[in-house]
Amino acid sequence: MFRKEEQFGKISADVDDVIKRCSKTGQVPEEKIRSTRFRKACVRFSIRQNPNSNANITAVSRPFLILSRYGSTKKKKSTRPRPNTKELIIVSLVNSVWKSDEIKGAINYAHDIETIAKKNRWHNLFESPKWILLNPADEVVDFYRKYIESPSRQLLARSSVTIKNIHDLGCGGGRHLYYFAELGFNVTGSDLSTNGTNYVAAELERRQLSARLVVCPMTELPFEDNEFDATISRAVINHATLQDMKKVIYEVARTTKPGGLFFVTFSSERASDWKKGTEVLKDVTYIPMHGPERGLVHTFLNAANTAALLEPFFLIEELYISEHPPLIVGAPEATDPNEYFGSEYVVIGRRR
Ligand SMILES: C[S@@+](CC[C@H](N)C(=O)[O-])C[C@H]1O[C@@H](n2cnc3c(N)ncnc32)[C@H](O)[C@@H]1O
Repeated sequence: MFRKEEQFGKISADVDDVIKRCSKTGQVPEEKIRSTRFRKACVRFSIRQNPNSNANITAVSRPFLILSRYGSTKKKKSTRPRPNTKELIIVSLVNSVWKSDEIKGAINYAHDIETIAKKNRWHNLFESPKWILLNPADEVVDFYRKYIESPSRQLLARSSVTIKNIHDLGCGGGRHLYYFAELGFNVTGSDLSTNGTNYVAAELERRQLSARLVVCPMTELPFEDNEFDATISRAVINHATLQDMKKVIYEVARTTKPGGLFFVTFSSERASDWKKGTEVLKDVTYIPMHGPERGLVHTFLNAANTAALLEPFFLIEELYISEHPPLIVGAPEATDPNEYFGSEYVVIGRRR
């Protein structure tokens, strides 16, 4: 287990503070951070206050990003005014997150899957079809259109894999399995919840679609190396501690072909449930005491840490933040929709 302060550079939203902090380490000279040509370590996105929100909540940010090591280094001048826009520059990869033996897959891992399975509150939620989301998430649809259906010439030039076999890690009620199966892909869904997979099996039959369903923990995927052309995982990996996240990312890397794609989301520190509940790792991992996900591990990252976790195995094609009101309203013990908002980093990586 690594100490957060040691392995994760403490990232501040204050640009000058970040620049000072990073240039002090000597790893990233100040002029490079300030230069728009320095792309590798700069994560840059804009965040707008939601004009419809009375609360002091930033509800929308659907920009763009970043780490465009492939992109043009010429600064494009926007002609559009950008009121209320606060720019953040977050410096990534200042400290390494992975130890070299972990990159080989040697991660100390000893825990009781039975206990995790029992704590998986999603299992109970899946008993009632009422709480099961059936439409694919917008971000997944965007991912399909941009990276698989009609990739740009630049994306095509970097892709060596034709996407046929897709793994949905933590498939839940199966909404992304139905989506990709209907589009004609070979799909595999894995999840820890048998309530979830039983529901999906029945729904697949009703829709006359087929998919392979596997019950397993995300940290131990019973799949061959390079079995999938793409892995997607939405709102799942955040239910792991940092160490388990690394294990999951290693497992995804192992089972996704070189050149294949990884669509993944992580909870961001901007989510309203950040720091709520029992603290497991300061500022990073909490277990909420209330709400539909009580008792479940929740890990929150910032953009830099998200990038650093994926970088050893995946080239980051895109990383953006997506924020939204609760997706499930009215579920047993659901959080108050006026208080809750979700905030996730959406990352599209390409297996190195
Ligand atoms: C928020 S739901 C997301 C479901 C689906 N990806 C979607 O977007 O609709 C989280 C899912 O992660 C699964 N899950 C939680 N912990 C898990 C673990 N350790 N291993 C595998 N699946 C897990 C839950 O059973 C649940 O289906």
